[in-house]
Amino acid sequence: MDPLNLQEYEAVAREVLRPMAFDYIAGGADDEATVTANREAFARRHLRYRTLVDVSERDLSTHLLGIDLPHPIILAPTAMHQLAHPEGEAETARGAAAAGALLTLSTISTVSLEDVAAAAPDAPRWFQLYCYGDRSFTELLVKRAYESGYQAIVVTVDVPVLGRRERDLRNSFALPDGMRLANFEQPVPRPEGGSALVQWTTAIQTPALTWEDLGWIRSLAPLPTLIKGIVRADDALRAVEAGIDGIWVSNHGGRQLDGAIPSLDALPEIVDAVGEQCAIIVDGGVRRGTDVLKALALGADGVAIGRPQLYALAVAGADGVRRVVELLRDELSLAMALAGCPSLAEVERDLVR
Ligand code: GLV
Repeated sequence: MDPLNLQEYEAVAREVLRPMAFDYIAGGADDEATVTANREAFARRHLRYRTLVDVSERDLSTHLLGIDLPHPIILAPTAMHQLAHPEGEAETARGAAAAGALLTLSTISTVSLEDVAAAAPDAPRWFQLYCYGDRSFTELLVKRAYESGYQAIVVTVDVPVLGRRERDLRNSFALPDGMRLANFEQPVPRPEGGSALVQWTTAIQTPALTWEDLGWIRSLAPLPTLIKGIVRADDALRAVEAGIDGIWVSNHGGRQLDGAIPSLDALPEIVDAVGEQCAIIVDGGVRRGTDVLKALALGADGVAIGRPQLYALAVAGADGVRRVVELLRDELSLAMALAGCPSLAEVERDLVR
């Protein structure tokens, strides 16, 4: 069966992925309440569509931090794509490029950032940064990303420590043989029990990152910097005052603080506080073009998908990734037509209640 929508990709992926990999991708922290709440936040909002507008042509194109894009759908950083496909992030990059989607590569990828860049050399790409206790290694990562043509640094700030993901604990999550975090020299240790990712994060990632460090991170490359994992207006304001170019509204797909506010609910206060001054991206629970439309109406400039890209990668490799982006893009275009919005400029807050 050819999946017709993003949810169907998840259903097929569940059949083809190893259970440990599916659980890692699908799972969230604790009771997974925020995973569910992210989806419910979209369902709770309804579209006040306009009528009698000429929508025979729809323009989905946009411009984000110096990059022209055919549509506002972004691939969120997600870890370890070889769990879903032997070619990992290189395959994702080929699919993203074919669909015109901006790719955000995770620091903890299973293909090196250089090889991902080489897989789709002309495609737009950002690099997601985790900060390590070893500052010189963090500096080297940013330098490598800059030299490999990544066009912005997305600093994740919602992982001072890893959330408690009980599915991974139950499965003793570990990287399968032959798989490694390719941006690092050192192998990920195999735990006796528990989650390898927790042990790895605890060992090398820093829980001591603060606002004072943003200046240092910004100084590492002449690239725009976004911070990802913000859900409050005061944090967003502080970031913009520190010279940050973009706020990525996210609760890490419900994988960190369970009970966190759904990203869509956090979006309006952040847009009101800093929307004029910086780019705003949102992720968390986006599965339909109408979800993208709601997020854009509430003020996002770009809307990102996380898990669906991995499900699609598992089901059909680069073609699957291309297809989920195109499905979402076409659903967005249809929703814009039905809502009386010929271009993104007409997608305003009064469209949503
Ligand atoms: C990594 O960022 C994860 O959420 O597993």
